[in-house]
Amino acid sequence: MSRDKPVTTLDLRRMKAQGRKITMLTAYDAVFARLLDRSGVDVLLVGDSLGMVVQGRKDTLKVTVEQIAYHGAAVTRATERAHVVLDMPFLSYHVSTEEAVRNAGRLIQEGGGHAVKLEGGKERADTIRAIVAAQIPVMAHIGLTPQSVHVMGGFKVQGRSTEAGERILEDALAVQEAGAYALVLEGIPAELAAEITEALDIPTIGIGAGSGCDGQVLVVTDMLGLEEDFKPKFVRRFADLGTLVREAVGTYIEDVRSGAFPDDAHSFHRKRKRAAKGKLAVVPEAASGAGNGSKRVAYGPTDDLPPRITH
Ligand code: KIV
Repeated sequence: MSRDKPVTTLDLRRMKAQGRKITMLTAYDAVFARLLDRSGVDVLLVGDSLGMVVQGRKDTLKVTVEQIAYHGAAVTRATERAHVVLDMPFLSYHVSTEEAVRNAGRLIQEGGGHAVKLEGGKERADTIRAIVAAQIPVMAHIGLTPQSVHVMGGFKVQGRSTEAGERILEDALAVQEAGAYALVLEGIPAELAAEITEALDIPTIGIGAGSGCDGQVLVVTDMLGLEEDFKPKFVRRFADLGTLVREAVGTYIEDVRSGAFPDDAHSFHRKRKRAAKGKLAVVPEAASGAGNGSKRVAYGPTDDLPPRITH
């Protein structure tokens, strides 16, 4: 469990300079954020992938600023060390720079993260400049940009030809020049990602972009094997939690049906007090701490319910 100082944008820059790889994972709720943070991951991304992972949609286009702020607040509440980045959803930064700055500000104020991420290269340079001028750090995201799914004609690897690769390199230089502090490279050839990483001062974080980036990011449910039917080439399953969950839930169902759960150890009991045969053992209020003279069934001191169960 890691209890180090919180990770900042400067730390990420330093990690690139020192050749220490940056680790980033998506998180959408407090339970996972706490686990990932305690595992020592450097960056948590409240990605708009939540449209697919949490909401079960086919793409990310319907995710709203309110939803990212809601999930962001849950993640930041449970995080002590990791740097938390909130994704700017589709159409929250496309209409005008004023609207982009306002939405980025809302995400930081309501979602509580440390930075925002947005998709696009040269065409987003002015937007990045304006958000950075409002003192909000921007992580850029180029290559396969899921919010452009209809323009790309699907979730397809980008930059395979020399010309397309050159355009992506130009995008990378443009977002760095506009003030982005880090850059996600998604779905591009490993060789191109390594060249971009070499050309930039800011750290690159790859997903489906090979090992030459300064760090890596994955969608947490993919790398834990929770999405059983989704296994793209760039994802390694570091665990098979899908199988574990199904086995555990299967055992729960069997045990409830057979009466094996709850057993004595998972049940509350009255205080041990001699009772007349066939009668409830009752404790007078004076003995149980209340004062209106009535009697109530008492719970033992070790049977106190944890706060979570009482609300
Ligand atoms: O939304 C997301 O999860 C992302 C990552 C895959 C980089 O943008």
